[in-house]
This record gives sequence, C-alpha cells and structure tokens, in this order.
Amino acid sequence: MSPPPHLSRRTFIAGGVGASAVAAIAGCSAAAPEPRAARFVAFEGAHQAGITAHPVPARGMQAAFSVQTADRAGVARMFRELTDEIRGLMAGRPPQTRDAAFPALDSGVLGPNPPADDLSVVVSVGATLFDGRYGLADRKPAELVTMPFLANDRLDPKRSHGDLLLTLEGGHSDTLLFALRQLMRRTRDSLVLRWMVDGYSRGSETAAAGGTSRNLLGFKDGTANLDTGDTALMDKHVWVADSDPEPDWATGGSYHVSRVIRMFVEFWDRTPLAEQEAIIGRHKISGAPIGREGEHDEPPFAATPADTSILETAHIKLANPRNSDSADSLILRRGFSFAGGFDGSGQLDQGLAFVSYQRSLRRGFLAVQERLKGEPLEEYILPVGGGFFFALPGVPAGDRFLGDALVS
Ligand code: HEM
Repeated sequence: MSPPPHLSRRTFIAGGVGASAVAAIAGCSAAAPEPRAARFVAFEGAHQAGITAHPVPARGMQAAFSVQTADRAGVARMFRELTDEIRGLMAGRPPQTRDAAFPALDSGVLGPNPPADDLSVVVSVGATLFDGRYGLADRKPAELVTMPFLANDRLDPKRSHGDLLLTLEGGHSDTLLFALRQLMRRTRDSLVLRWMVDGYSRGSETAAAGGTSRNLLGFKDGTANLDTGDTALMDKHVWVADSDPEPDWATGGSYHVSRVIRMFVEFWDRTPLAEQEAIIGRHKISGAPIGREGEHDEPPFAATPADTSILETAHIKLANPRNSDSADSLILRRGFSFAGGFDGSGQLDQGLAFVSYQRSLRRGFLAVQERLKGEPLEEYILPVGGGFFFALPGVPAGDRFLGDALVS
C-alpha cells in the first residue's frame, strides 16, 4: 500500500491505515510504538537541519532580532558567534567552567551535561538586513521583502518583522530557553530582541502514538504536508537551486514565512461542529476529508467533480485544489501552537505560529495565501505578527559558518 503522492510516507505508515495493515500482515495486534529516544540533530549539511528534521519535536520557539553593529565585519562576527554556539548546543557540548569570581558561561539550567533533546536552531534573515547599513543590498534574495499586510491582517509592529530570526525546536521548554539565552549571551553586542513566540504541541507524543498533532481549533494539522524524507520533493519545492534567479550565496537556503495567527477560540467553540468541518473540509475527529473515512484518503476534488461534499471555499480545497495550477505551489509547513495568556478584553490569546518553507515566496506561500483570501476561516482568525525571512543555506564543513558566503 503506498501513500498518496506528496504525502509523507512516514506519516502514512505511522498513521492508522499503514499501521494496521502492517500489524495485520505481521499477524499481531496493533500496539503503541516504543517511545523514540531523543537525539542530537547533526548540524552540518547543505541545508539547515531544523527545516526538515523528523519527527518534529514537542516544542517550538521563534525569536526575531534587530542587528545593531557598525559594519559588515560586525555582521560576520555575529554569524560566526551564532554558528559556534549553535554547533555546540546541537551537539550537547558541555558548558565551559571558569573562575567563580566571574559570571558562569551558561545559565546552568540544563546541568553540566546537556542531554540529547532533538534541539535544532535555524537562522534566517529579513529584508531589512539588506538595507544600506552593511552594503548587502545587491545580495538580497530576489523575492525577499518586508511582509506586507495581507488579507485580513492586523500586524502589530511589536510582533512583526526583524533583521534576523532564530527558530528553535526541541523536546522541552528548558532546552529551548537554555539555547536562546546562550545565543543571546554570545551576541549581546549585535542582536537586540524584537519579538518572540513560544509554542508547543508539536505532537511528539501523538507522532509516537501513530498520529498527527492537532492545532488549537481541535483539527489535525499536518495531514497533507510534504515528506521531508523525499529529497527530490524537497529540491523541487523547498531549496533554492543554483539555476534559480537568486544570488549565488542563497543556493541551499529557503524562503521562510512566519505568521503569528491569533485564533478566536471562544467564538470557534460556539460554532456547530458541522460548520467547523465544512470550513476546514475535513472531519474533526478523524481528520479525513469530508465524506471519507481515513485521515489519509485523497480528498475527492478532481476525481468526481460532481461530488460537492467538500465546499469550494473549504480551507483545504483553496489551499491545495490539486489541479495543474496548484501543483507548483506546494509548501512545507512546520508551524506550532501558541498560548500567551489573554488580551485586555478577557479573550484568550491563542493561535497558530504558522511556518512555511518554500523555494519561491511568490510560487509558494503567496500563491496559496492568494487562493485563501476571503475564505470562511478568516472570520475566526487574525494574523497579528510574523514576517518574511530567508533561511540561510547550511554549513557543509567545520571551517565554514552560517552566512559566510553572504557577508564575505
Ligand atoms: C490559524 C490559521 C490556520 C489554521 C487553523 C489552519 C488549519 C489547517 C488544517 C486543519 C488543515 C488540514 C490538515 C492538514 O492537511 O494539515 C490545513 C491544511 C493546509 N493549510 Fe492551513 N491553517 C491555517 C493557516 C494556513 C495558512 C496561512 C496557509 C498558507 C497560506 C495554510 C496552508 C495550508 C495548506 C497548504 C494545507 C494543506 C492542504 C492540502 O494539501 O490538503 N494554512 N490547515
């Protein structure tokens, strides 16, 4: 049995259909898989590992910074410091100790030997890094702009944009907070924090139990996503290639969209289930397309045009109508939920930190977003922050650093 095209085979096998088929062949009843041991994610490679590391760990965080340094040499120094620290953090390098007359070189939060916890850090740059300050204007990725107001947005400057974005993932909050503090300690002279979003429920438990995690609307999120293990698919839709009309240094990088999207969860919770399902185009509990049984069943868009069980305006139909126009606009989604307390009018501040990676901003995110414009889901959500960034290419060898080809 093979998964539908583009669907993650690992997700498929981990999901109900694949798992029960395997169990049936083996003649045993389906049992929950053993919890997976956490690991250190390898730092070096043609691409930054955190973009495709699998499975996606339980915690996610983004922190955006302004770069405040005098010149290009300062930017290079900042990238060197970040690279050295990220290398050490991702490998669990024990913190250095020094004379107690000085402040310790790390917070101590993870003890003397930071354990493996699937930590990854992705470094991305915003359009403003390429303004006049560092003489980088002619090196800007061709499609990179400061994120404009898109349909339905109310972007808060305090939660938007930035010269540099760090995206951290790992198994536990203290792993991410430890890493963030170490990275900020190393770059205190050049990076000033602008905004951050701290999130969770990436679904390591649900993934281990053979399922897709749910977002805060209660729907499974990530069912139809690109398979990060399929390198040809990643090359086609995620990584900037040599042949693209982009500066040379950008090869191996990826356009990185961050959208901090508030959900009006109180309003959503008062909406009838049938209406919620019609808005998304999937059943809430199973995750199956409306009118189908299995989460990974193909939505019946193209096969039977007369089948109107999924509305034209359903989120999944607009996001990916699975026709010749949309075949080029597939994106890799890697968002997470956030819950930041409540706002001044007593409403919960909860939502989705939507993240997508794509080879072209225009053909990827912007094409999908344009199709989603005016969708019924808009009534329940409000994009309040985030930004457009470019995830730097990876570091292929020990003598290189993130962004070296950009600043040299
Ligand atoms: C709070 C906002 C959003 C919510 C609650 C939401 C929810 C969902 C859900 C429940 C699914 C179905 C499960 C799945 O295949 O993962 C889905 C699919 C999808 N969403 Fe969203 N989404 C949101 C925002 C966005 C945005 C901003 C975009 C891109 C502009 C987007 C693009 C997609 C795509 C491409 C799919 C897969 C469609 C398919 O191939 O069937 N979503 N979303």
